[in-house]
Amino acid sequence: MMKVGIDAIGFYTSNYYLDMDILAKARGVDANKFRTGLGQEQMAVVPPDEDVVTMAADAGFEVLKHVDVNEIDLLLFATESAIDQSKAAGIFVHRLLNLPSRCRVVELKQACYSATAGLQMAIPLLRENPKRKILLIASDEARYGLNTTGESSQGGGAIAMVLSQNPRILSIEPESGFYTEDVMDFWRPNYREEALVDGKYSCEMYLKLVQKTWEQYTQISGRTFFDHARFCYHVPVPKLVEKAHLCLARFNGISAISRDEMQAQLGASLEYGRLVGNCYTAALYLGLLSLLENDPEDLTHRRIGFYSYGSGCIAEFFSGVVQENYKSMLDMVRHRDMLKSRIPLSLAEYEGFYNFRYPVDGGSLVISNYQTGRYRLAEVSDHKRFYENAKL
Ligand code: CAA
Repeated sequence: MMKVGIDAIGFYTSNYYLDMDILAKARGVDANKFRTGLGQEQMAVVPPDEDVVTMAADAGFEVLKHVDVNEIDLLLFATESAIDQSKAAGIFVHRLLNLPSRCRVVELKQACYSATAGLQMAIPLLRENPKRKILLIASDEARYGLNTTGESSQGGGAIAMVLSQNPRILSIEPESGFYTEDVMDFWRPNYREEALVDGKYSCEMYLKLVQKTWEQYTQISGRTFFDHARFCYHVPVPKLVEKAHLCLARFNGISAISRDEMQAQLGASLEYGRLVGNCYTAALYLGLLSLLENDPEDLTHRRIGFYSYGSGCIAEFFSGVVQENYKSMLDMVRHRDMLKSRIPLSLAEYEGFYNFRYPVDGGSLVISNYQTGRYRLAEVSDHKRFYENAKL
């Protein structure tokens, strides 16, 4: 069967972050709770002149240097931080990236799961047409509100992926297990900027569906735990991923996993997430990027197991095989530099960014310049967002 999957991958996150120790101190919490209890060191904070559109365009710009832009005939934009109830955020990205006019653009929503929906929906389309290339972008800003329990699991960023036949990074295998159940563990009504969450319940559902989807996936594929060299999970906070992995191991009759075994099986998949925080739809794929760029071993021809979870809820377990020469398609130096050169925020600056509001009455606001990527939100006026290329 023809291989299909991820041919190129790009990443963008805000140039600003909050150190978790600053948040812990401000909220009167022991710093070890965030660092050890949640496994989080820093979280990205998005400035007023960036949003899911600009972050997506920045990630997309990086990835398009590997392909002929005219071959892209579908842009799938996965987000749960929608900026409009009607117009797909991807249409703005389509213009910013000069995608061809013969290109379909839609927005996909199902909490943190929708990038996986996009990936699985793209596969039959790619099998149908060997020339087709699909751009899948996941872009999100996790916002729970100041002084809420979810505040420590915020973050933001975007992952862009070119999907194609004969992919140069990862071929996706056809077998997968998926499971849907109508629950209220995390949601954001149309009138709210911040998500509402039943935190403990959401973790329970995340863990319950690891088993459900794995059971189905292994029944269909006949694979076992040890057929997977690494595991990548959706990352709300790194500690929950470790818990999920332990659950999966126990479910497979492995009663204990040493620290070294855990480290080996999760590889470097949590490295970037510890610094960026939750980026919802992008989090699983940021984990993949982190793994591929930072794992000490050559992962060529190795199988990775993926667990995608979207509150509400749906989850999917699937797998992929790393392709030869995948390293030549990565840009570890650029990504590490991006993370290293970010600007630390004081608590007051973080709260200032957080409390920033765009006009909702049709009034005009020219947005001040912060440290951004290539694209920025320049103005909101007459209920419209105006984006610009900051490098022109
Ligand atoms: N030193 C070390 N560890 C400490 C500590 C200290 N001083 N103090 C507390 N801890 C530990 C606790 O023991 C606990 O560990 P265990 O779970 O192993 O017992 C851990 O720190 C966290 O403590 P709490 O359970 O008290 O944490 P919390 O009340 O702050 O809630 C959370 C954590 C539920 C993840 C919360 O941040 C939250 O609601 N986040 C948003 C929702 C979320 O991320 N849900 C995840 C599943 S849903 C999903 O996957 C979709 C999505 O992306 C949102």
